[in-house]
Amino acid sequence: MRIDNRNYRTIWPADKEQGPILIIDQRKLPHEFVIEELHTVSDAVVAIRDMHVRGAGLIGATAAFGMYLAAIGAEPGRLNEALQEGGRMLDNSRPTARNLKWAVDRILTAAALGDNEDDQKRIIFKTACEIADEDASFCKSLGLHGLKIIKELSEKKDGKTINILTHCNAGWLAFVDYGSATAPIYAARDAGIDVHVWVDETRPWNQGSKLTAWELQQENIPCTLITDNAGGHLMQKGMVDMMIVGTDRTTHTGDVANKIGTYLKALAARDNDIPFYVALPSSTFDWEMDSGHDIPIEERSGDEVTAISGMTKEGTVATVQLTAPGTRALNYSFDITPARLITGLITERGITAANREAIHRLFPEK
Ligand code: MRU
Repeated sequence: MRIDNRNYRTIWPADKEQGPILIIDQRKLPHEFVIEELHTVSDAVVAIRDMHVRGAGLIGATAAFGMYLAAIGAEPGRLNEALQEGGRMLDNSRPTARNLKWAVDRILTAAALGDNEDDQKRIIFKTACEIADEDASFCKSLGLHGLKIIKELSEKKDGKTINILTHCNAGWLAFVDYGSATAPIYAARDAGIDVHVWVDETRPWNQGSKLTAWELQQENIPCTLITDNAGGHLMQKGMVDMMIVGTDRTTHTGDVANKIGTYLKALAARDNDIPFYVALPSSTFDWEMDSGHDIPIEERSGDEVTAISGMTKEGTVATVQLTAPGTRALNYSFDITPARLITGLITERGITAANREAIHRLFPEK
C-alpha cells in the first residue's frame, strides 16, 4: 500500500536472493518514517517483542525471516541446532498471535527437506518469501469476499456512505500488505462505494490513532478518530453500519482474540443489531484450541498505561507521564470475543459463520 504515493510492504529482504531484512519501525509512526535493518535472529526477536513490528500477519512474516537470519548466522554443521534455538526464541517473543508459531513451524518443516545446509538455507529463504507473499495475497482475497458484504449494505442504503467501525490496527501495517480488517474497505473504495471509517484510538498503545488513521489517510479513505468509549454511543445514534476487526488468534470453534476492548464493542454491536465481522487469513486459526479462554493473553508493562507519547509543539517526539508517581496499572493486551457475538469470519476462502462445523466446512483439510 502507499506511503506518500509510493508503494511499500511492511517487510522485505534487501536483496531478492538474501538478507538483511528490512522493516518499517512502527514505533516511530506517524511522526517519522524509519526503515530498520534486521541482521540477526536476535534483531528479529527484539523487533517483535518491542513492537517495531506488530500485528498477527506481520509478526508471522518477521518470524519466518527471523528463522532465515538464524540460518545464515549458524556455524557450519550446526544449522539444525540454530534453527531450533531461533524458533524457541521467536516463539517466546510474543504469546498471543498464532501466526508466529505457525510461521516458525512451517519453516522448520520446509528446512527438514533440504539435502545439505546450503540447500536448507535456500529453502528457508524461499519459504520465508512465500509466507510473506501468501500473507499479502490472502489479505487481498479476503478483501474481495468482504467487499460483497459492504456492497450489499451500500445497495440497501441507496449508495449512501457506509460507516465502518474498526478497533486497533488490522490494516496493511499489521500484515505484509492490504491488511485484514482494511482489505474489504480498500476493495470497496476501488469498487466506487462510498465508505467512511470510525477509528478507535485503541489505548494504551494507540494503534488506531497512530497507525490506522494514518494508513487510511495515506490511501485517501475518509476516516474519523474516536475515543475507545465512543463506539456504543455512535451505534445507538445509527452512525455505524458495520464493524470489521482483525484477530491475533481465532480458535477453530470461532472464538476470537483481538486487541483489548474488542469484546466490549462486540457486545455493543449485538445490542444495536450491527453486524460484527472479523477478518483473518487462515494462518491466524488455531486448529488445536477448542476454547478462546485457553488463548494466552499478553500482559504488557503498566508504563504503557501511565504514560503516553506523541509529538510536542516544538516537533520532537516525547513521552509524558499521565498519572501520579506510583500509580499501579494493569495492562492486558488482548481479550476474547466469544463466537456467539460474531456475525461472520471473512477469510481468503470466503465468509463463514463462527462455529466449528462451518469453519471446518471451509477448511476441510484441517
Ligand atoms: O499488539 P499488536 O499491535 O501486535 O496487536 C495486534 C493488533 O493490531 C490487533 O489486535 C489487530 O486487531 C489484529 S492483528 C491483525
